[in-house]
Amino acid sequence: MLASTLTVVCLALSVASAAPPTIVVDKLPISLPLARRVKSNLSFGRLADIDRARARVIQSKGLGHAQKRGSTFPVALTNGVVAYSVAVGVGTPPAIHNLLLDTGSSLTWIGANSSYNRTSSSVDSGQQLAMEYGSGSFNGEGYFDTLTIGNLVVNDQFIGVSNGSSTSPDGLDGILGLGPTDLNEGISNSSTVEPTVTDNAWSQGLLDKYEIGIFFHPTTSDSGAMDGELTMGGVRRTGVTSPITTVPITSTFPASEFVGFNQSVTYGASGSTILSNTAGIADTGTTLILLATDAFDHYTTATGATMDPATGLLKLPAVKYDSIQSLFFKIGGKSWEFTKNAQIWPRSLNSNIGGDADSVYLIVGDIGTPSGEGLDFINGYVFMQRFYTVYTSKAPSFGIAKTAFTYAETN
Ligand SMILES: *[C@@H]1O[C@H](CO)[C@@H](O)[C@H](O)[C@H]1NC(C)=O
Ligand SMILES: *[C@@H]1O[C@H](CO)[C@@H](O)[C@H](O)[C@H]1NC(C)=O
Ligand SMILES: *[C@@H]1O[C@H](CO)[C@@H](O)[C@H](O)[C@H]1NC(C)=O
Ligand SMILES: *[C@@H]1O[C@H](CO)[C@@H](O)[C@H](O)[C@H]1NC(C)=O
Ligand SMILES: *[C@@H]1O[C@H](CO)[C@@H](O)[C@H](O)[C@H]1NC(C)=O
Ligand SMILES: *[C@@H]1O[C@H](CO)[C@@H](O)[C@H](O)[C@H]1NC(C)=O
Repeated sequence: MLASTLTVVCLALSVASAAPPTIVVDKLPISLPLARRVKSNLSFGRLADIDRARARVIQSKGLGHAQKRGSTFPVALTNGVVAYSVAVGVGTPPAIHNLLLDTGSSLTWIGANSSYNRTSSSVDSGQQLAMEYGSGSFNGEGYFDTLTIGNLVVNDQFIGVSNGSSTSPDGLDGILGLGPTDLNEGISNSSTVEPTVTDNAWSQGLLDKYEIGIFFHPTTSDSGAMDGELTMGGVRRTGVTSPITTVPITSTFPASEFVGFNQSVTYGASGSTILSNTAGIADTGTTLILLATDAFDHYTTATGATMDPATGLLKLPAVKYDSIQSLFFKIGGKSWEFTKNAQIWPRSLNSNIGGDADSVYLIVGDIGTPSGEGLDFINGYVFMQRFYTVYTSKAPSFGIAKTAFTYAETN
């Protein structure tokens, strides 16, 4: 294990182009730094619309599993302002590919921005893969190969390799799919549902626990930075400031197909209800917190904010910032305070979303459908920048804990 870890570190240091991230050498559970990329502007659309488009695709799973067999993949490629990526080694010796972290999809694929060079560990599966994302597509072939993720060396991992006509997610080389295994159903011309990286790492005895943890720092500048951490096989020990509260994955469809759980949301000291206890998901591929339209309307009224046509976000004059009260997310019988500072888009990045300097923009958006449809919220990464989240695939569960950033004044 140690020898292969050193190989990866040396390789990462010797590849001069593309500035590969340094891989943290750690004991199990493994810890991987997440690189953050922030776009200078959203020339392709408004943030809220992009998130809603992804929500539509996630909701389309409600149309039934048969649709998946028609090779329509349920999750949109992210196209938000911020993207988190992980350096993954593929082959023997490993070649580094920078992949988008995605808990909303489960196929790991490469080749959108760099070529796949077959090595001694590469085996062609003969499977053809074709997936339509909400924005863009992936087309290619399935291979089995060795994946090196931090000090984890996963053998015979099924990966997709682009045939050259796949959409690059945020300019990256592909996706590290960390979602539930079932999302790999129907993505190829074979009936086999291929195991995820987490599944294989577990079955190959590489992990102490069948779980992943995600830690994001709040985004405060648009300079590229190592700004988060993925742990596999356990949970992070530093920066997590409360015990982890664990709830089972919800049985409500379609949230049940993803990292889905139940929550309710209230606003302010009076505890006025924004969203009653209902099912939704946590998703690293969504930027905002999206709520069912009726809940969003309650939030709009509670904050007194108005819809800004330019950004598609709720907006308040900057001087009204102090009037915002905390949201309280109730998950697993505990109340998780989401402060006023957490509810605003980082002011230093207002121009990146087409906003102005004299306003604050709220990061709670409208999912576009009424509550009661099985996907009544999506807690995107603005939520995960304030809370540590854990996804366990065996006895599926979702975990949440406070971090050093829960109450931070970063925005
Ligand atoms: C936004 O990005 C596009 C494409 O990169 C560029 O053409 C445009 O000038 C940018 N707009 C602003 C306001 O920076
Ligand atoms: C694959 O090989 C080509 C040609 O040597 C090289 O340019 C490319 O960077 C290699 N791909 C990776 C991911 O290292
Ligand atoms: C990749 O596969 C898709 C779907 O089969 C096909 O439409 C496309 O032409 C292929 N692209 C290349 C470059 O081979
Ligand atoms: C895509 O590939 C180019 C050429 O190898 C490289 O310069 C660039 O950094 C890559 N993009 C990302 C996001 O890794
Ligand atoms: C999948 O498609 C490939 C290429 O057309 C073919 O060789 C292979 O036999 C197909 N596999 C199945 C299980 O149909
Ligand atoms: C989760 O919420 C749904 C409504 O969306 C409800 O039917 C279900 O009973 C709830 N489950 C739990 C465990 O509270």
